[in-house]
Amino acid sequence: MENAVHRIGVFTSGGDAPGMNAAIRSVVRTSQHMGIECVGIQRGYHGLINGDIAKLDFESVSDITRRGGTILYSARSEEFKTEEGQKKAIATCKLLGLDAVVGIGGDGTFNGLLALAKHGISVVGIPGTIDNDIACTSYTIGYDTACNTALESIDRLRDTMQAHERCSVVEVMGHRAGHLALNVGISCGATAVLVPEKKVDYERDVIEPIRRARLGGRTHFMIIVAEGVGSAYQVAEKIMEATSLDTRVTVLGHVQRGGSPTARDRTVAAYMGYEAVRLLAAGKTCRVVALQGDTYVDYDITEALSMKKGLDEQTYTLMRALTGVQE
Ligand code: F6P
Repeated sequence: MENAVHRIGVFTSGGDAPGMNAAIRSVVRTSQHMGIECVGIQRGYHGLINGDIAKLDFESVSDITRRGGTILYSARSEEFKTEEGQKKAIATCKLLGLDAVVGIGGDGTFNGLLALAKHGISVVGIPGTIDNDIACTSYTIGYDTACNTALESIDRLRDTMQAHERCSVVEVMGHRAGHLALNVGISCGATAVLVPEKKVDYERDVIEPIRRARLGGRTHFMIIVAEGVGSAYQVAEKIMEATSLDTRVTVLGHVQRGGSPTARDRTVAAYMGYEAVRLLAAGKTCRVVALQGDTYVDYDITEALSMKKGLDEQTYTLMRALTGVQE
């Protein structure tokens, strides 16, 4: 069957996530396999506006799956939000003869794709963010690596906290979403976990669990705070006031976005890249590739953007049980 598209542009946009390179490789190689040309666009929408291209072929994407970051660079473009910026991006698509675009990123990236689709470009989004906060998919590329990176750092911190009998307050990424904090908290065996989706009662959620652990004989404590909850330093102040514990703050920050992707992130990225090209070749447009359970599916972008992803209540309940929070 004849492919519906002939030349695809691929780019990464917004916060980078480990596994984006594996997704790029998959898009490029699947395109080639299907007889479709593939062009790299550097620096996301910024590069689309400025015609910032990278030649990609089967060989040039070899040996990139193990690398973090993105070989195509990433950016957040304010200019693309303007009509003028969008006109320039469409002009680039026309000049390069792109009839389709694959954008790898988060909700902001998918919103931008809709603007391109209005001008007749076929578009598909691939979810890539360490926050795992895209509603239509149970999994976003980069999440597993970020969880493991945070976990490894926290395990190290625990050693020194144990030695000095201290309390550690660790801030993990997640401006609006607590998935990372919650799962890292459960896997590191935290004393308490604070997430932005839930109102915090410091006495009940932090001080009491510390007190109970101390009564049980524990002499060091690990408090995980998602970025969106507020300053980890303020959380530490409250702990010191209430308990006089020697408390230290560690903000893990962008270290969570880097590093070699885990097998899970590389595999999901490979599948999603393949699916994106398959959808475009079949004449589909305005789709987001998603994972539901073990099955790869796709959603209309507008529908996907209107969906809301709350915290997984089962996981939240588990965390409360394991940290001994009394409701
Ligand atoms: O979207 C992923 C994310 O890592 C958020 O958790 C965080 O708040 C944000 O990006 C940080 O973005 P920047 O790289 O612009 O500081």
